[in-house]
Parts: sequence; structure tokens; C-alpha cells
Amino acid sequence: MNAVTTENLNLWFGNQQVLNGITFAVNKGEVVAFLGPSGCGKSTLLRVLGGIIPKITPARVEGKVYLFDSPLEETKAGAIDLMSQEGSLLSWRTALENTQLGMEILGRRNHRNKAQELLQKVGLNGFCQRLPRELSGGMRQRVALAATLITQPELLLMDEPLANLDSLTRESMWQLIEELINQNLIKTALFVTHSIEEAVVLANRIFRMSSCPCRIIEDVPVEIPRPRIKSNGALDPSCLELANYLRAKIRGDQ
Ligand SMILES: Nc1ncnc2c1ncn2[C@@H]1O[C@H](COP(=O)(O)OP(=O)(O)OP(=O)(O)O)[C@@H](O)[C@H]1O
Ligand SMILES: [Mg+2]
Repeated sequence: MNAVTTENLNLWFGNQQVLNGITFAVNKGEVVAFLGPSGCGKSTLLRVLGGIIPKITPARVEGKVYLFDSPLEETKAGAIDLMSQEGSLLSWRTALENTQLGMEILGRRNHRNKAQELLQKVGLNGFCQRLPRELSGGMRQRVALAATLITQPELLLMDEPLANLDSLTRESMWQLIEELINQNLIKTALFVTHSIEEAVVLANRIFRMSSCPCRIIEDVPVEIPRPRIKSNGALDPSCLELANYLRAKIRGDQ
């Protein structure tokens, strides 16, 4: 089954074309990274897939989007979750309360234990009662990840989920996300990143995007077995090789 299919997706904000004939199909269970220059349209694409554009942010959109083989408009609440680039914790709710929010919105019960369990998984066991301002940036991103996972979305859309983290925290998050993929807690996921290494470590496929108006210029399979991060934190040598290949290609695009 396809999780996401787009057919000749074009988008304009006013006179500016941002998406240019985006066509792809992602299978259920795949983890896909979008890699492309700043301002090319990656967040815009994710926001279209998340149903925010054109519903909340107006734009002219042409083309088709199917999620799980049904038109995007027919997707049921809770099936997809978009973790935005800006972060989305509510400042007046504790880490635990922020984690539970999605379940409350969907009207589901008995989510306190589940929220606690997820916060433990992301290494925040002792921080459940802290407010966002009492947490570091990396901790806030881990809460946002737990809050996204609690509804067990069939499709996870993440816009630069690990931006603004120091490199060690970022690498420990790569390990955590790999574990969540292995445990099937992250099912199908599409994420945006500026880090070539992050794309190579986490994704099964990488879509290399052009500058704006953005199109997919290469669909790169990543067939490196998991885990791709060794217990000492080093990356599998095949990851480094693929990252170097991509880096050379991206430099060639500029
Ligand atoms: N709501 C909007 N109204 C008008 N133009 C917009 C809107 N959102 C984005 N744009 C424009 O669309 C283009 C693509 O923006 P987008 O945020 O999708 O880029 P991006 O690839 O995510 O960039 P970055 O890597 O810097 O996050 C930019 O030129 C931006 O100015
Ligand atoms: Mg963006």
C-alpha cells in the first residue's frame, strides 16, 4: 500500500511558484528524507501533505495528493501528525501535559501512563512536571517528539525535527529515532533536514530537491542495514560513503 502519493503537485503563493511538478510515491513503512536548499519549498510541501495548505494558509494548489490511497481530504483525524519547524509546545502546560495533548484533542482516555512511558523513552523521566521554559532546547524537541508519537500516527511528517540541537544531542536523537523505527513506534515518516548525515542515517530513501520552485531531482535509495550507528556512536562507514556522494552532488547543483 502507498502511504503518500503525489501527482504533478504545483503550488503558487501569489505569483511565486514554490512547488513544481512534485510526483512521488512512498510505501507504507518507508522513512523518507527531503534534502534541499533553504527556501526551496520543503516546509511548504510538508504543510500541503499535513492538510494545512491550502486549508489554513491560502495558496493555489494544483495536482493530486493521496494518503493511504485515499484523497488527502478524506484522511481521518489522528492518522497523520505534523511536527513543525517552529516547535509547538504550549508554554503553560508541563512536559507531561504537552505530551498528552493529542490524545485529549482526539477524545481518547487513559493517556497519562502512555505519556509517562513515552517521556521515559525519550530520556525525560525526571522532567514530566517541568514547563517548556524550564527545559533545554534539546529536551523541548524530545517532548515534541513524544507528543507527536502518542497518537501513534500512521504517517509522521517532521520538519527539521532536530534543528538547533548540539551535535551530541542530535546524534543521541538519531539513535533514539532508529530505535523507535525498529520498535515500529515510528511507522511511515517523511522528514525535512539540512543534514546530509541525518538523512543517510535515518531514511530508507532520500529525495534531493532543487532550488525554488522545487522539484525532486533525485530519488536515492538508502539500503544500508540498521543499526547504522554503532554503540560507540560512530556511523557505519557506508553511511559516510553515501553522505560524501550526496555532498558532491549537492555542490554540483549550486
Ligand atoms: N505563507 C506563505 N506566504 C507566502 N510565501 C510563502 C509562505 N510560506 C512560504 N513562502 C515562500 O515559499 C518559499 C518556500 O518556503 P519554505 O518555507 O517552504 O522553504 P524551505 O525549503 O522549508 O526553507 P528552509 O530550509 O529555510 O526551512 C519561500 O520563498 C517562502 O518565502
Ligand atoms: Mg522549512
